[in-house]
Amino acid sequence: MLGAMNDIVVRKMDFSFPEGLDPVVVEGDPEESFTVLGLSLLLPYLEPYLIRTMKAAKKQISDPVLLDQAERFSAQEGHHYRAHMRLNTAFDRTKFPRLSELEAELAADYKRFSTEKSLRFNLAYAEGFEALTTAFARFSFEGGANPAMREDVGRLFAWHMIEELEHRTVAFDVFGHVCGSYPYRLIFGTYAQWHMASWIRKVTIYMLSMDTEALERCGGMEGLKQRQRMKFADMRKRLLPRVLRTFSPWYTPHDISFTSDMEMMAAQYSEQAIETR
Ligand SMILES: [Fe+2]
Ligand SMILES: [Fe+2]
Repeated sequence: MLGAMNDIVVRKMDFSFPEGLDPVVVEGDPEESFTVLGLSLLLPYLEPYLIRTMKAAKKQISDPVLLDQAERFSAQEGHHYRAHMRLNTAFDRTKFPRLSELEAELAADYKRFSTEKSLRFNLAYAEGFEALTTAFARFSFEGGANPAMREDVGRLFAWHMIEELEHRTVAFDVFGHVCGSYPYRLIFGTYAQWHMASWIRKVTIYMLSMDTEALERCGGMEGLKQRQRMKFADMRKRLLPRVLRTFSPWYTPHDISFTSDMEMMAAQYSEQAIETR
């Protein structure tokens, strides 16, 4: 059960981004910039799919507390993807004409999942995403804000990650309540993670191939390899064990505590919000 200090707070934020924003949002690091934008581009397709899934699941939830959490989960996700759309429409896409084609492929996948797949599959997919974002959010908060990232983009992601942590138990509990099974979560949750990561990777590679000038400015392929070596070492040490833990039959997001630093950050975003409930 979530404590009073870390209830699921629905915050309406007013993020805005300048028109024609440079897609290199992490200075000196085009591959990370394009991965960040790839994730941002994924969310307006993924998160409405999560909301559709939760709406279908709600009909089978008998616990009023879980029902309220499911409603708050969907409300937070609704604000997330709308905020990301602002970034996605602001950055300069001139060099990337095929992005809309990639987005259409993703939209078709999620539409197909909602119409053709079982609720069990869709909930296992949702939990696959939530388990990964919970692990990633803890990893990124532990590392602190990236000073090379644009401040407005950093704020968008930090707000999003703190809310992902606030609702970290919801998809897991709804899946367990409605139709949960460990092997099913393991197989289709992992499929979900592969599906999302492959799409983001495709976007990253495409953007890098189209904006060769950005890569050249940052040390070319040699610079990229050097940055990746450093990042992978850190991810192997701090992120991988957390992700691997989610594959265990004993994994539960209820064991993950909301730290005092997270509480402070959540309170800051509540203050900055134009509306909370
Ligand atoms: Fe979200
Ligand atoms: Fe979420």
